[in-house]
Amino acid sequence: MTADPVVREYPDDTWADGGPTREVEAVVESGHVLAFPHLPFVLDDAERRFLDPRWADGKAKNVSLRWPSGELRGAAGEPADLDALRCLIVRYAEQSETFALRLFPHYRGKLRRGNTSFRPADVSGRARSWRQDDTRLHIDAFPSNPMQGTRLLRVFCNVNPRGEPRRWRVGEPFEAHARRYLGAIGRPWPGSAWLLATLGITKQRRTEYDHVMLQLHDRAKADLEFQRSGPQVRVDFAPGTTWVVYSDQVLHAAMGGQHMMEQTFLLDAESLRQPETSPLRTLERLLSRTLR
Ligand code: SIN
Ligand code: FE
Repeated sequence: MTADPVVREYPDDTWADGGPTREVEAVVESGHVLAFPHLPFVLDDAERRFLDPRWADGKAKNVSLRWPSGELRGAAGEPADLDALRCLIVRYAEQSETFALRLFPHYRGKLRRGNTSFRPADVSGRARSWRQDDTRLHIDAFPSNPMQGTRLLRVFCNVNPRGEPRRWRVGEPFEAHARRYLGAIGRPWPGSAWLLATLGITKQRRTEYDHVMLQLHDRAKADLEFQRSGPQVRVDFAPGTTWVVYSDQVLHAAMGGQHMMEQTFLLDAESLRQPETSPLRTLERLLSRTLR
């Protein structure tokens, strides 16, 4: 074990405000994974039937809830079943929000609820292009959804009923990772951000920050030598484990497992306790210019 293991474990066994861990903004912002091995998301007997990939409609890999509309996407089934599935996903969104605001009280009033997802498909069965292959180490960055520096904080919970862990790899710190590829990353073509937005390819303007983050995502996934022998640790999250991570900062790969809940939260980089730890500020510092 290294002096500062990337995964930090906490003893909490409740999502509610009474749990012991609080004010750990600095830990998550410095690129650690916060793991709670005794914090299951509990499904009742009737809900356990949803632990089956048949509830995903086949086009989408995940079932997801969009906020603020609360619209359910990617699910297939009868209306009454889909209502029950929706209730379960809403409960996860609410519990993880209560939990996140206890862990990170500094974010109160600033943390925005992003999508909530239920992932009933087996990781190893997901057929993908290399760019979509999440078994390769990567930071999260999306071609059609520019974040413009906004942070992606995610709360995951393994709900596998058969004892199967979610098997991850976690890679090097963000700054070391950025230094690895930054010298090879050029500037975006003049007018490309306007063109992508005008054609409807991006939902909002792809800033230079987004350009660099996408390049980091793609270059890491395309670099088989880095995938094989770059700095990394294996981490197994047993069923009943919840973990919290800035997925735009922490290099991660999902190697195996099935049945997981995930809640995304969005936070402006300037609302962090330590904004200088953000990917935006880190890249701006390394490049000596603004990327907004
Ligand atoms: C990812 O965010 O890359 C996938 C995480 C997972 O499915 O465990
Ligand atoms: Fe990812």
